[in-house]
Amino acid sequence: MATGVSSPGRAQIGLKTARSDRWWLAPLRIGVILLFFIVYATIRIFMNKWYWVGEFHYLTPLYSPCVTSSCVEGSSHLGTWFGNFPRFLPFSLITFVILAGFRGTCYYYRKAGYRSLFFAPAACAVPEPHKNYTGERKFPLVALNLHRYFFYGALIFGLLNVYDGLQAFHGKDGGFGIGLGTVIIWINLVALWLYTLSCHACRHIVGGRLKNFSKHPMRYRYWTFVSKLNPKHGTFAMTSLFTVILTDFYIMALSAGWFSDLRIIN
Ligand code: FES
Repeated sequence: MATGVSSPGRAQIGLKTARSDRWWLAPLRIGVILLFFIVYATIRIFMNKWYWVGEFHYLTPLYSPCVTSSCVEGSSHLGTWFGNFPRFLPFSLITFVILAGFRGTCYYYRKAGYRSLFFAPAACAVPEPHKNYTGERKFPLVALNLHRYFFYGALIFGLLNVYDGLQAFHGKDGGFGIGLGTVIIWINLVALWLYTLSCHACRHIVGGRLKNFSKHPMRYRYWTFVSKLNPKHGTFAMTSLFTVILTDFYIMALSAGWFSDLRIIN
């Protein structure tokens, strides 16, 4: 039996949509941004170079943590945990799968993906092209329910990124230093943590499944904090996407020698 807009009982309207506004603009804009990020990240991961600036200890988030023998000298500041990885399977691809899993299963990106990539539907009062609707109960969409586990993975990577950020206070003579790269890395860190902590799963983890808050004052405090961030989750999701690209691009440019880092201290 047909489901969705074709199901019996729904008004059979010949028009594609009765909306006359530019409803397609928002999904188009988000779709272009998502596709750009997917293409950019894929190219950068398989490029397998220009991810480390040894002079100032800048490591791009797309290659963090760099823990294999294949990493360029100095970039494994957390140690070497694995041997060589083949060129067609860079270690950063594994990292990326976890972080892309976190974003791909995120409620905000799900909305964006459904509207902009799968047109399911593209906007309110715009029928979708699919004949059937099965929800998120079957493979592969049922995997979207793994979001909370990807959240735990993202927390670990977030902490590793903070460690990278601390390493970035490295001066030319080996002492303390701050450059534009350090500033960009820390702006990205703030954006990433705002995105991670405003997650809906995070809000449920810190404050969910409680009968009353009065017996759990600490969890109430965390929940209140996360609840303040949560309404801006979509903004943080898109902002952090751009800050990741900006950070990676800046470090790539320094590493490739396209320009020099602007130094603020040393
Ligand atoms: Fe977006 Fe969890 S809902 S990261």
